[in-house]
Amino acid sequence: MSETTMEKIVSLCKRRGFIFPSSEIYGGLASTWDYGPLGVELKRNVKNAWWKAVVHGREDMEGLDAAILMHPETWKASGHVDGFSDALVDCKNCKKRFRVDHLPGEGNIRTCPGCKKEIDLTANPPRAFNLMLKTYLGPIEDDGAITYLRPETAQGIFVNFTNVLDARHRKLPFGIAQIGKSFRNEITPGNFTFRTREFEQMEIEYFVTPESAGEWYERWVAERFAWYVRLGIRADSLRQRQHAADELAHYAKGCTDIEYLFPFGWSELEGIANRGDFDLAQHAQRSGKDLTYFDQPANRRFLPYVIEPSGGVDRATLAFLVDAYREEEVKGATRVVLGLNKELAPFKIAVLPLLKNRPDIVELARKITGGLKKKFVVKYDDTAAIGKLYRRQDEIGTLYCVTVDVQSLEDHKVTVRDRDTMQQDRIDLEALEDYLTTKLT
Ligand code: GAP
Repeated sequence: MSETTMEKIVSLCKRRGFIFPSSEIYGGLASTWDYGPLGVELKRNVKNAWWKAVVHGREDMEGLDAAILMHPETWKASGHVDGFSDALVDCKNCKKRFRVDHLPGEGNIRTCPGCKKEIDLTANPPRAFNLMLKTYLGPIEDDGAITYLRPETAQGIFVNFTNVLDARHRKLPFGIAQIGKSFRNEITPGNFTFRTREFEQMEIEYFVTPESAGEWYERWVAERFAWYVRLGIRADSLRQRQHAADELAHYAKGCTDIEYLFPFGWSELEGIANRGDFDLAQHAQRSGKDLTYFDQPANRRFLPYVIEPSGGVDRATLAFLVDAYREEEVKGATRVVLGLNKELAPFKIAVLPLLKNRPDIVELARKITGGLKKKFVVKYDDTAAIGKLYRRQDEIGTLYCVTVDVQSLEDHKVTVRDRDTMQQDRIDLEALEDYLTTKLT
């Protein structure tokens, strides 16, 4: 099998309608991407699989959809106004700007990756560059109107902690899950959808007693790792990496990243952090509101600790795409297959008429499509000859192709082709729905 490269993935995504460069007719906007007809289905399936696993599948979780725009005090309390920045330095020779932690070299003497000249950080001190995207609310662009596009969804959860606690009569431990867009003015976006300035997060804030935080941290690391494996990522392309003390974010007592082996190397899919009581303490102090929890049986009041599994929707989607991509030799030709898990595949079934100029075949194929649509995501396709249609469906990961031919009109049977084995079964129309239900559920 030949190597999966990012070029192959980007090309497939464009060709088959998964991901397009944003604003392409204007030449694109750096590192922004639009999810096309196939991409929007795949991404939605990723989010649904997450929601099913962490909200609907558990008794200890609630969902939330908080606003992107939040009170500006939120970001002072969370530490983002003061601390969410990268140290940048301008090369005096070539005038390009770099993140200091990306510069080759040691200590204060570094090498410019652009012009290869020396950069002396004592003579040329780095400056902090805040990563939050600023905007103004209302018609007057003054300091009083400044707010930010949220750089993480997490804070929407923290400020709603007592709302959810009271409305749902919750006791510890319990968690709140949220999926939504976040924005960061990244200095070095890139690697396709891996690092962008607008992206989507799937975040959980799980509230626990301080004494049980360590145990819940371990449990969530295992649980989140297993989710990726369950949805088809090969376990040898996944690993856990614990942060060293000097790597930890300002709020974290501990953090483990789940990393995937992308074509550009091991990179973070999700981080599971022990945030302690940092956020609730900060918000309680700034807002003046009581955010403590009263543990009735123990008769004590305290700020809960928080375990935070925080993943990227776009990164997970990209990892599922890369991991599912394979090329096979079939009868001297290359077959490209997206071997996506059945929960994630954009279309489950394609119905294909063998002859599109035969109205009776087309009518039967359309009738079958209409019937199956009540239960599955099904597409009718007659835009090419059958061989080509199979190849196209393989490339977008469709699990089963149902082909209607001349004989189907007489024997009321259709051919069902399996994406992975390419095995074809002749199935009675009466039994078709049950056959596919068994395969797909
Ligand atoms: N609330 C914690 C938090 O936001 P993070 O490690 O900064 O932690 C969590 O982000 C996840 O969000 C990352 O693991 C990654 O999957 C995703 N993410 C972060 N920045 C991103 C970016 N610029 N582009 C795409 N995804 C990003």
